[in-house]
Amino acid sequence: MAVYVNEETLTFHLTNRDVSYLFNVLPNGELAQLYYGKSLRHVDDFSQLFYTEVKDNSCTEADAALSMDVIRQEYPSFSRSDFRLPALQVTSPDGSRVSRFTYTSYEIIAGKQTLPGLPATYVETPDEAETLVITLKDEVLNATLCLTYTIYKDAPVITRHAAITNQGEATVVIDQLMSASVDFNQSEMDWLELAGSWARERHIKRTPLHAGVQNIQSTRGASSPQHNPFLALVQPETTEQSGTAYGFSLVYSGNFLAQMEVDHYDTTRVMIGINPFDFNWQLKQEETFTTPEAVLVYSDQGLNKLSQTYHDLYRTRLARGVWRDRLRPVLINNWEATYFNFNEDKLLQMAKVAKQLGVDLFVLDDGWFKGRNSDTTSLGDWFVDEDKLPNGLTSLSDKIHDLGLQFGLWIEPEMVSPESDLYQAHPDWVVGVTNRPNSPGRNQYVLDFSNDDVVSYIYELIKARLTEANVDYVKWDMNRFITEAGSVALDANDQASFRHRYILGVYKLYTLLTEDFPEVLFESCAAGGARFDPGMLYYAPQAWTSDDTDALERVKIQYGTSLVYPVSMMGAHVSAVPNHQTGRVTPLETRGIVSFSGMLGYELDPSQLTDEEKTIIHKQISTYKNIQAIVQFGKMTRLISPFSDPLHASWQFISESNTDVVVTFIQQQARPNPGFRQLKLAGLQPDRRYRLVGTDHVFYGDQLMYHGIELDRHIDRSDAGDARAYLLHFNLLEEA
Ligand code: GLA
Repeated sequence: MAVYVNEETLTFHLTNRDVSYLFNVLPNGELAQLYYGKSLRHVDDFSQLFYTEVKDNSCTEADAALSMDVIRQEYPSFSRSDFRLPALQVTSPDGSRVSRFTYTSYEIIAGKQTLPGLPATYVETPDEAETLVITLKDEVLNATLCLTYTIYKDAPVITRHAAITNQGEATVVIDQLMSASVDFNQSEMDWLELAGSWARERHIKRTPLHAGVQNIQSTRGASSPQHNPFLALVQPETTEQSGTAYGFSLVYSGNFLAQMEVDHYDTTRVMIGINPFDFNWQLKQEETFTTPEAVLVYSDQGLNKLSQTYHDLYRTRLARGVWRDRLRPVLINNWEATYFNFNEDKLLQMAKVAKQLGVDLFVLDDGWFKGRNSDTTSLGDWFVDEDKLPNGLTSLSDKIHDLGLQFGLWIEPEMVSPESDLYQAHPDWVVGVTNRPNSPGRNQYVLDFSNDDVVSYIYELIKARLTEANVDYVKWDMNRFITEAGSVALDANDQASFRHRYILGVYKLYTLLTEDFPEVLFESCAAGGARFDPGMLYYAPQAWTSDDTDALERVKIQYGTSLVYPVSMMGAHVSAVPNHQTGRVTPLETRGIVSFSGMLGYELDPSQLTDEEKTIIHKQISTYKNIQAIVQFGKMTRLISPFSDPLHASWQFISESNTDVVVTFIQQQARPNPGFRQLKLAGLQPDRRYRLVGTDHVFYGDQLMYHGIELDRHIDRSDAGDARAYLLHFNLLEEA
């Protein structure tokens, strides 16, 4: 791994075994991209990779015979000879929006820097990565721009962010500052995104690029279930197993923009960052604004390799804290079992049976605080409801702990109900604007987390509850989006910075609470998976994947989510049937097997289970614990996509030690008189033998990969039907 610099030509080459990223300084001082893709050998002179000429219909730069319109740029600025959309737009004190940042210097740093107030990937030792910082300056604006690139040593990962510092006396306004921008010299590509809505998050959509601008974004104040802050560009022939793929993921939980622009010369400009829509930032003298981090991953072996790279990075160098490397507890959550209708006896009754089934952690969901008997009241009043829990939280938690279970608590710290003591006391603490009514969502308002006083108040309150209840786990929810974006605590000029300041406030509270409670496992949640993004996963190593717990729906949701996020980050629960979201009835075994590809939990009332169901769940939990390390820390490969095969889906995990392979096969729908099916595994050692656990069937790795396993021979299909799931576990045989 290295960052090479040719001091004479000012060419920068970030490279490792897998990837190369190259750019240089143009005669006018701006940066041109030379290459991004499969690793190139390093040579002193890369000038062969650059060609440009001024076209007849072009405008040129004032001081150089260059047209930026035909140059692949590194970080395009605004309103000169390039007509494509820029990565950066600033308004100078005189109202002008033209900018031109030219190269001044570079610096190479071992390891990786942190980003002030923002989540980001990290290194544990400086030799894991190398960082290049390029400094540019706009003399007219009197501002510097730092572009930071980190290349990881052993992975095709390059992270980027940008920062502007105002060195002048007058305020400049940042209208747009993207985290990364890349110009590709081709447009014959497809783009992939994770799209959806509440209860059907992160479905994979693949679309050919076309001329003009196409983008995905969030305007909701959260990364959103509609579009995840991720996109990939792939060759038309790219599959799960082969072909080129470029991923762009943003470590951010607020409004984002991921945009592609195919221009008149079939160049594709891709950029990702904070959504410039409804955003600006007043940058005063000597202040610096830093963007969130973009994580760029390259794969020359299809989407699986792209995903595996993200999985490794996000599991080991984005997630933090003691729970990063610990096996997660199997939990039971009372939400779908009781909703708001519970008391201490009911909870303890559930917990007792759950303990007998093998559950580790009892989570008390919504409804435990003062007067909260429906979703119409009480958010913000984080004091125990003495009607439901007259002995208090500490007593409940003690009793749960006495049963041998850990205790978890649901909170929604960013919210307030209009019917609450907090709102009565501080109506000005709500997100909104003067003289206009607020639009409620789920009967609640959003607290103004851009205001430090609000964050501090909520921090003290939540800290007191977590301390007194001796909490082991927190489910941090966020159930509505932001409307009437604004803060009465901000100056008029700062109102358009509100959405970013809000997210910074959320990150601040997360920082305070995770630092105070380092042993607590945090799970983020946002009406299910509405904030399933790398920003949240930096603070909370797992997230509630979706409110939709229907096993078949979950196949698509979890498969799509796995395009970027490892299963160690996905909460996956077995719930009762008929399913509360779809009304569908699926076998308990299927619900279990689907949830095994995630951090297992139960979302049902165990005291209502039949003896047979209890036996199944008891066995389920012990099976899961047997394979949990393989799933949580192993390498996932997707085998059959439910988005292209309406009948089936499949994926596998190989353990870190390469000794175990766990395969999930789903039959979404039964078909009469089907043919016989072979399922081809991937990534095994071709010349080593594997035993199907529980049988004496032994296979060479090459047979399992190239011929495939004869499914009908090795799984019991006597109970065929819709929504059936099968788990196959292979052990590597020790050979003499
Ligand atoms: C959200 C969550 C659910 C549950 C409810 C409680 O919808 O996604 O899991 O916690 O809130 O109100």
